[in-house]
Amino acid sequence: MSKVIFLADHRNGAPASVAPGDPPPHGQPALDLRARPLRDLRISVTDRCNFRCTYCMPREVFDSSYSFMPHSALLSFEEISRLAGIFTQLGVEKIRLTGGEPLLRKHIENLVGMLAELRTPQGHPLDLTLTTNGSVLERKAAALKSAGLTRVTVSLDALDAAMFQGMSDSGFTPDDVLRGIDAAADAGLAPVKVNMVVRKGLNDGQILPMAERFRNSGHILRFIEYMDVGNSNGWNLAEVVPSQQVLDRIGAVYPLEPVESAEMGRVAERWRYVDGGGEIGVISSVTHAFCGGCTRARLSPEGKLYLCLFAHEGHDLRAPLRDGATDLELARILTGIWSARGDNYSELRGRNMADPSRKIEMSYIGG
Ligand code: GTP
Ligand code: 5AD
Ligand code: SF4
Ligand code: SF4
Repeated sequence: MSKVIFLADHRNGAPASVAPGDPPPHGQPALDLRARPLRDLRISVTDRCNFRCTYCMPREVFDSSYSFMPHSALLSFEEISRLAGIFTQLGVEKIRLTGGEPLLRKHIENLVGMLAELRTPQGHPLDLTLTTNGSVLERKAAALKSAGLTRVTVSLDALDAAMFQGMSDSGFTPDDVLRGIDAAADAGLAPVKVNMVVRKGLNDGQILPMAERFRNSGHILRFIEYMDVGNSNGWNLAEVVPSQQVLDRIGAVYPLEPVESAEMGRVAERWRYVDGGGEIGVISSVTHAFCGGCTRARLSPEGKLYLCLFAHEGHDLRAPLRDGATDLELARILTGIWSARGDNYSELRGRNMADPSRKIEMSYIGG
């Protein structure tokens, strides 16, 4: 694929007129209202999933009468990679494919291959990764790696089969997911990160077994505080296990120490076992909001750009894409959207000032 250069406007010599703002100078990232650079793009490629996790796609809501997006509404791989190329010119260095379940999108490895060809203005390849429920990863890991994927993150909430099946409301087993994780590591998609959403009174008894399973494995287990994403999971603060409690429980058995990291826009706090058993992470968006360093934009399957996981509205990019906007016009649109961004939902939630109504669903925007 050709390198994206939007500094010249090449549609019939027409002036680029969509312009809420000029793109930043070559090589500089776009900045939002809080001076946060645009660094990460999370691309949801489908709103469908073969799991029905009770906290994400409860079956009562996402049943056979639920209208998923028709294929014609989805951005094509060409449209996604064109947009992604423009995003990299505006500062994006890291792309994560999400869903729904991204591995359900047909020939997803072709999209990976297209994105793997992109380069930052400094000429570096992107950190190109994917979040999956792991159910079909065993079959797909090698093809994803050879297409150019860098790493994967796999969700796994329990090792206990009955609990796993209850939480994912699926016919899959923890072993299916564990085989996917091993296949990914064998293919070189390492280190594999494993995400566990912790819900008090449900799977918090799995914290220690999960820590033990992944100690000394080379994989990085991360514990996520249960969040109020979407409108359908009936979230309640009483179901959140604060990350500090997770660290206390594990640390009492296997002492931990923090891993210092200067990485901007970091989601997980990193910890390591003092005895050399590897690393874990905690993601504390409820008890310790990390909006101040949030460099993430999210693109929905049909091309709407969301500036926060808890946003109410997205900005339609599919219309200008399909109306023939040039790369320069698209870059101006993106710069205008990003430079007007002030989102900080998790900080506001912490101060009881957030508006929890009409949020987008996690299955649509992908975490
Ligand atoms: P790595 O570079 O692989 O560490 O990526 P990451 O830390 O962004 O991890 P990942 O994409 O797996 O995110 C883990 C989880 O953190 C997501 O599934 C969400 O539940 C949560 N998360 C990620 N980004 C945000 C964010 O911007 N805001 C909030 N509130 N939660 C987020
Ligand atoms: N709170 C925290 N994490 C969630 N995820 C999905 N819904 C929630 C929620 N309500 C996680 C999934 C997966 C990632 C995409 O987001 O388990 O790891
Ligand atoms: Fe599917 Fe992931 Fe949502 Fe579970 S959390 S229903 S695996 S998209
Ligand atoms: Fe970013 Fe919104 Fe999450 Fe804050 S709540 S870290 S602004 S996505």
